[in-house]
Amino acid sequence: PAPGWNIAADVVVVGSGVAGLTAALRCEAAGLRTVVVTKARLDDGSTRWAQGGIAAALGEGDTPEQHLDDTLVAGAGLCDEEAVRILVTEGPDAVRRLIATGAHFDESEAGDLELTREGGHHRRRIAHAGGDATGAEISRALVEAVRARGLRTIENALVLDLLTDADGRTAGVTLHVMGEGQHDGVGAVHAPAVVLATGGMGQVFSATTNPSVSTGDGVALALRAGAEVSDLEFVQFHPTVLFLGPDAEGQQPLVSEAVRGEGAHLVDADGVRFMVGQHELGELAPRDIVAKGIMRRMQEQDAEHMFLDARHFGADMWEHRFPTILAACRAHGIDPVHEPIPIAPAAHYASGGVRTDAHGRTTVPGLYACGEVACTGVHGANRLASNSLLEGLVYAERIAADIGASRLANGLHARVPAPFEHPEKPAHPLLAPEARFAIQRTMSRGAGVLRSAGSLATAADALQRLHSDARDALDENGKTAEPGVDTWEATNLLCVARVLVAAARLRQETRGCHWREDHAERDDTAWRRHIVVRLNPDRT
Ligand code: SIN
Repeated sequence: PAPGWNIAADVVVVGSGVAGLTAALRCEAAGLRTVVVTKARLDDGSTRWAQGGIAAALGEGDTPEQHLDDTLVAGAGLCDEEAVRILVTEGPDAVRRLIATGAHFDESEAGDLELTREGGHHRRRIAHAGGDATGAEISRALVEAVRARGLRTIENALVLDLLTDADGRTAGVTLHVMGEGQHDGVGAVHAPAVVLATGGMGQVFSATTNPSVSTGDGVALALRAGAEVSDLEFVQFHPTVLFLGPDAEGQQPLVSEAVRGEGAHLVDADGVRFMVGQHELGELAPRDIVAKGIMRRMQEQDAEHMFLDARHFGADMWEHRFPTILAACRAHGIDPVHEPIPIAPAAHYASGGVRTDAHGRTTVPGLYACGEVACTGVHGANRLASNSLLEGLVYAERIAADIGASRLANGLHARVPAPFEHPEKPAHPLLAPEARFAIQRTMSRGAGVLRSAGSLATAADALQRLHSDARDALDENGKTAEPGVDTWEATNLLCVARVLVAAARLRQETRGCHWREDHAERDDTAWRRHIVVRLNPDRT
């Protein structure tokens, strides 16, 4: 076997969005030797694309209890109430600590936080920065803090697999690193605590708001490691994504719910506000309801998209409140000051992920998950808008506290890592990079916003063929695609897509963001429960 490089730490944090960097900063502050590894650059993940903001009961008259109620309603009967209570109760102080770390949120002239509304919220509860560039500001502040504290970071480091010791406890991760000098090639960070904060899997679909790095790496790693994964069928489709044509692929520009929160109207080609009368909150109904309303109208009118009309904002408001969205629209030849914006739903957020308890602990000892990669139970069948940045913050802090406490109890420093040697033959069949596009098209056609037994069966067959071909080649002649970031990403996408489709086939009802045209009703008798998946690590 080829020798790899080996470094040791107390904690390795995989990913560098709000969840990863918050966890890393708190672990370091607790005196733990912390290493952050991230697939691209520190600010390349989803966090910096977040627009609307971060939800917390910070406004006058608002309470965590009201935030809890809105979250539970959006979650369509599948939230873990205790997990939500933790989120909404610890949320306001977590946001204040984020501000103390250096993030600047928009304020009124009187110096109070400006709060906006989004779908499913009965109150103005969403703090924002730079108008519609909240994630970019949070990312900037956290990256700066990480650099100022001198945390050890390794960029361009794709995580491969979990290392475990003889007792099945976490012992670190293997990584494929490109262009980082002494850590080039395959190596390992040995640590008794691993925090997965790898973000989402939006790239499993053709059109998504997620950046190209969101390829489900953390969920795939967890599945290969035998950890439990839950609720993968609940993929949230954001209702208002700039429509760039029926064949648009890859990351698409988001048009924040906050635009509706400030009074924009959803209209069809005839200018009719079709959401009015469908829900007490109209255009600000929870996201799944608005996405369904848009899709239904598109079907009725045989239209490729609907429109978001905010011409009445005027140029001044557009320029000051929504500069990012204005620029994105104009870059595509649309001027929202003078014309309605063409929009359609696109894949946005994985409500499910690696199953954790209230301290972010997965079912593999020493392995934690935080942020979009995790399924803490706060989102249920449909995440409430702007709860995701908050979840990343709150649960990252809880994870750091838990690791700190377990170090005191178990003496983590005492563990001596076993040296890692890179095996010549990969344990898993790797897919050729081009398979990514076949997976995305298969998923968008068969497991997108509207699903049926037939569409899901077709998708499952196509994914199985990709998997069998790759496995047969490995089993029969040891052949597999050349290891590299693209091949691992395609392999991870296939892994999560197969589980997602299997869960979506099982759930024969419509609930939250899982919409089955052949089972149009919610079925609380049979399906008020979670689909939890654990793969046999020897045969993934
Ligand atoms: C948005 O700004 O509409 C996105 C908010 C979210 O996904 O929570």
